[in-house]
Amino acid sequence: MVWSSRRLHIVTGKGGVGKSTVTAALALAAQREKKRVLVCEVTAKERVASLLGAPDCGPEVKRIDESIWSVHVRPAEAMREYALMVVRFRAIYNAVFENRLVRYFLRAVPSLPEIVELGKVWWHVVKEQDEEGKPRWDAVILDAPATGHGISFLRTPRTILELVSEGPMVRDMKRMQAMLTDPALTAIHVVTMPEEMPVNEAVDLHQAIVEMQLPEGRLFLNHHFERRFSADERQTLASTDDGALGPSRLAARYWGERQDLSAHYEARLRREIELPMTLIPYLAAKEFGRAAVERIAEIVGREG
Ligand SMILES: Nc1ncnc2c1ncn2[C@@H]1O[C@H](COP(=O)(O)OP(=O)(O)O)[C@@H](O)[C@H]1O
Ligand SMILES: [Mg+2]
Repeated sequence: MVWSSRRLHIVTGKGGVGKSTVTAALALAAQREKKRVLVCEVTAKERVASLLGAPDCGPEVKRIDESIWSVHVRPAEAMREYALMVVRFRAIYNAVFENRLVRYFLRAVPSLPEIVELGKVWWHVVKEQDEEGKPRWDAVILDAPATGHGISFLRTPRTILELVSEGPMVRDMKRMQAMLTDPALTAIHVVTMPEEMPVNEAVDLHQAIVEMQLPEGRLFLNHHFERRFSADERQTLASTDDGALGPSRLAARYWGERQDLSAHYEARLRREIELPMTLIPYLAAKEFGRAAVERIAEIVGREG
């Protein structure tokens, strides 16, 4: 079971495939297992709280459900926390960073935003404790940046360790790398959907994860249409001309096309990505929100 031991779940995938939805569902599933959960969104726009029907959190950790807290990790605020909590150079921080320069540095120094964001995640996962000295969070679910940026995000400590071998950064990079690569602690999940580009990106992402030797989690195939029509029925639907079809038969034809696409890409993913796969159905909802996420949580919770 995914939940039994691992504490950090990193959700990756192309933008728009349902990363935030899966993050929210994993959070609910973990809550059902009586976990204390922290959601970290390292994304341009905060999304998870609203998917669960709660107000946005911003850069402070806020409670959004019974046993779920959430935080929107932004470089500028993460920079301050990194300086204060991880590096502990308060004097320098006060002198240098507590002003507009911070924004300048974040733009000017490559990888700095990723470093401070990862530093914050590391702190929540590895360092933060409750009153009893146990880890504060049983599960940290990280909504990671979309594919290309997601890969460079996960690669940051390694890249820097290849460039520098001593100095104050090295200890922190080694700690972050140790967290990211520990299979007892971390699982990297990939979200995709049954379309060409999202599937291509899932394949690239998985290759990068394998190449970086990061611990693999699950593959979530979102927007999946289950098989409702046999090949014969598909043939009949396809051979009737549109004009002769009533609305329900047009709907059936549409579903048939979608189910074929789903099956096609599911087969391709099974060939090209060696990960346990969870199928998440397409849920038509005018207001996609809590109710849909609850249903998805049941599925992801059941399959671990
Ligand atoms: N299983 C699903 N069925 C129907 N619509 C979905 C499903 N998953 C996601 N969506 C829709 O797609 C939108 C984008 O999902 P989101 O999780 O925000 O994607 P990402 O975080 O990858 O950009 C959601 O707001 C929702 O409207
Ligand atoms: Mg998102």
